[in-house]
Amino acid sequence: MNVTVLKTGVFVLSAVPAAKLLLDAFGVAGLSLGANPVESLLHRAGWWGLTFLLITLAVTPLRNLVGMTSLIRVRRMLGLYAFFYLTLHLLTYIVLDQGLAPGPIIEDIIKRPYITIGITGFILLLPLALTSNDASRKKLKKRWTTLHKLIYPIAILGVWHFWWQVKKDIAEPLIFAAILALLLGYRLVKFRQRRVRRHDA
Ligand code: HEM
Repeated sequence: MNVTVLKTGVFVLSAVPAAKLLLDAFGVAGLSLGANPVESLLHRAGWWGLTFLLITLAVTPLRNLVGMTSLIRVRRMLGLYAFFYLTLHLLTYIVLDQGLAPGPIIEDIIKRPYITIGITGFILLLPLALTSNDASRKKLKKRWTTLHKLIYPIAILGVWHFWWQVKKDIAEPLIFAAILALLLGYRLVKFRQRRVRRHDA
């Protein structure tokens, strides 16, 4: 597929949830965020953030399985979308949910384990977003690849955070956990195959 078409398509599609959030938030065409708009925004941004993290992780296996090499050209964009939705998620929590009150926020981070896990994931995500550009990639060389492996613990923390904040029905976090297990399992198998090949050579 033509890379420009692919990039434009992925860019536009990935922005759709954000556009829908905006339309809902501003009540366009009778849409709304529902009875509890802050909670709805928080949940939807968190859900999309985690979804984009998993989509980003799915790029390499998909590229290998379907042989569509151009897919790798949209991986950075997908990762940045994950960062965008999670920044929105964090800002919704800090500004709209907690009213920018540092005391309760710090107390939450210390006392509520799912918030501790969420903030850890977000802090780990920051260096990846900041070094996602070509200049950093060139400058950091091999260290860039090592640094960007942080995506694995970040995704684990994200699913764990989701799981822990769910009150009753764990079906959805379970689906996320199963998809993540598949994506990480795939890498483990590939890693072992590479080691065996190196050993045999
Ligand atoms: C890697 C980082 C993070 C990921 C992937 C993530 C993801 C999620 C997801 C998927 C949900 C549930 C959405 C749903 O119900 O559909 C959620 C809920 C939530 N997250 Fe995060 N989150 C992250 C970081 C954070 C941070 C940094 C904070 C705050 C400091 C935070 C605060 C919350 C809160 C307050 C809820 C709602 C809990 C409730 O309703 O009881 N998250 N998050």
